Amino acid sequence: MKFYVCPICGNVLIATEENIVTCCGQKLNGQEIKMAEGKHRIDVEEVNGKVHFTSEHGMTKEHHLNFIAYGKNNQYVVIKLDKEKPVDVTLEKQEDVEIIFGCNQHGVWRNE
Ligand SMILES: [Fe+2]
Repeated sequence: MKFYVCPICGNVLIATEENIVTCCGQKLNGQEIKMAEGKHRIDVEEVNGKVHFTSEHGMTKEHHLNFIAYGKNNQYVVIKLDKEKPVDVTLEKQEDVEIIFGCNQHGVWRNE
């Protein structure tokens, strides 16, 4: 999966392959996915077969997490996060999956 983030409007676009992706009239480069560190991390709590995601990252209008992708291989659940609201997402738990998430200022990250 390739993740593209528009620096102008913040739109997140996801493609199955590298492609020519544009938004707001600009060509976007696929985001390099960095390993989570500091506040660029999703905290995960498991309760009754579900996973609950929160984060200590700020959620201001200017600087916020903008999506979480939860899954593996070719199948992800993608959640758009609301700026100015804390991260508070509950999903069905899956085994051996990864958590990828985006910050509007600092790119795309993967929980360890
Ligand atoms: Fe950030």
